[in-house]
Amino acid sequence: MSEDRRENPQDKQETEFQEILGYYEANGDGSQDTLVSALREIQDVYGFIPPEKIQETGRRMGVKEGLIEKLIKLYPSLKAAPYKHRVRVCIGPNCGKKGGPSILEAAKKAAADRGGSYFEVTSSGCLKHCPTSPNMMVDNDVYNHVKPENVASILGKY
Ligand code: FES
Repeated sequence: MSEDRRENPQDKQETEFQEILGYYEANGDGSQDTLVSALREIQDVYGFIPPEKIQETGRRMGVKEGLIEKLIKLYPSLKAAPYKHRVRVCIGPNCGKKGGPSILEAAKKAAADRGGSYFEVTSSGCLKHCPTSPNMMVDNDVYNHVKPENVASILGKY
């Protein structure tokens, strides 16, 4: 008889978080670069740097919490909160030929204008809506025949 031993996702995150801190405790050189690398890895686990993890991170990395908070503000790639919406811009074969990369640039700019942690913008392979390319998705909504100049107003709905 088999047993279901699937790990709770939160336990898995905590395990990974502890592994990251353990690694940097043992191998860190105390530099800012090392601290930022550790924060990036923590962000990879949670999608952002959870505020409740800052204290332990600071204690184990030997720095003050305030320094970590400053770094999160200083580095645009570090986020203190999860993204609210996910934007996927198709750059698959059809959309790519019809302006997908320009739409992606427009989406990144529009997202930056709204503040770094509101939209997560990524490129995507074929979204399986080729006849209406170029396409973009915001969460589960699909937008067809998108033009770069319309991206900001589409994102403005969210
Ligand atoms: S290539 Fe974009 S939907 Fe297929």
